[in-house]
Amino acid sequence: MDRLPENPLILFNNWMEQAKEQELNDPEAMALATCTKSGHPSVRIVLLKSFDEKGFKFHSNAESQKGQEIAENVLAALCFHWKSLRKQVRIEGHIEMASQKEADEYFVGRPYMRKIGAHASAQSRPLDSREFLEQKLEELKKLYPEGSDVPRPDYWVGYLVVPEKIEFWWDNPDRLHDRIVYTKDNQANWNQQRLYP
Ligand SMILES: Cc1cc2nc3c(=O)[nH]c(=O)nc-3n(C[C@H](O)[C@H](O)[C@H](O)COP(=O)(O)O)c2cc1C
Repeated sequence: MDRLPENPLILFNNWMEQAKEQELNDPEAMALATCTKSGHPSVRIVLLKSFDEKGFKFHSNAESQKGQEIAENVLAALCFHWKSLRKQVRIEGHIEMASQKEADEYFVGRPYMRKIGAHASAQSRPLDSREFLEQKLEELKKLYPEGSDVPRPDYWVGYLVVPEKIEFWWDNPDRLHDRIVYTKDNQANWNQQRLYP
């Protein structure tokens, strides 16, 4: 890979398209790292739903552990690892909320049981038993029968990771790996820098 695009989103898109063709499952899966105000980090997988200049979007429960951490500290990082491609992308930036309209549009398109699940799950909070959750699901299925409008719970929101730094790592058989980092300057231009692997 000699000539790299000036905009890292073009390269990210190329790699994502390759991943969609080759990964066994979940090419959109990314590790999301968040951090409390006092510096305690945590990480989990979420699914990338879309990306553009404004940011990398995922959806989640604002009352979950990650939601609470984002509420007190907007700094976050993402990491993709596509095993079949032997490629990694790391993204650092801050998180902004997607608009209510975007959150609604995404929620409407979710499968019925996912919508019901969003109502049933107090994500990240203690659950006494699986049976309790199953019972809650049955009650919600009666309240919102299949085919009816299932409203988006207020806490089910979209988040945008606004990138300030995007790093690409790729494997080279028989020689050292490559690393290129793109950093956004004050004029919102992307600058490229090669790093030692
Ligand atoms: C492949 C995969 C995709 C996932 N996608 C999401 C997602 O898009 N949104 C989400 O809230 N949780 C998703 N999860 C569950 C999270 O990893 C996590 O368990 C949950 O969000 C609670 O995280 P928290 O307690 O740190 O807030 C996914 C898990 C896996 C393994």
